Amino acid sequence: MGETRAELPFIRDQAVCLSHDQAARSGPEEEGAAQMSVELNHTIIPAKDKWVSAKFLADILNLEAGPEWGHFVPVKTANGVTLDFDTREEFRPGHYAFLVSDAEFDAAFARIRAQGVRYYADPRRTKPGEINHLHGGRGVYFEDPNGHVMEIITHPYGDRPEQI
Ligand SMILES: [Fe+2]
Repeated sequence: MGETRAELPFIRDQAVCLSHDQAARSGPEEEGAAQMSVELNHTIIPAKDKWVSAKFLADILNLEAGPEWGHFVPVKTANGVTLDFDTREEFRPGHYAFLVSDAEFDAAFARIRAQGVRYYADPRRTKPGEINHLHGGRGVYFEDPNGHVMEIITHPYGDRPEQI
């Protein structure tokens, strides 16, 4: 009886160690779970005028621009990503996409039209004045004052690209 009690914790410890060991070796599921803690935190968006560009995007998306953080003008999104606008002499236009609710899409799209901002259904900008209905939602592309191609979508992209 005494021996049995003495062995029990050992067996339990082994079982615990085994499960830890299996987790350490990890199959695809465990690896995926481990990577889930990685989040995009901030990125720099180059601009001809950081305040003009930050204000432009913040106004369209109903977000706050600033206050200045160092020499950046930050615009923070709801999922904690900060877009740090920075004035630069030369840069290449980039692409930035924002996932919004249907109500936010309506409001942002209304502001795009009210401000006379050119918008397109496609990233190559061959379909001006239109939106798309890809991936089970609505989407539209528009240019910021620097030529960056901004996009708002109401549904995340699916597993495969969809064409308009
Ligand atoms: Fe995109």
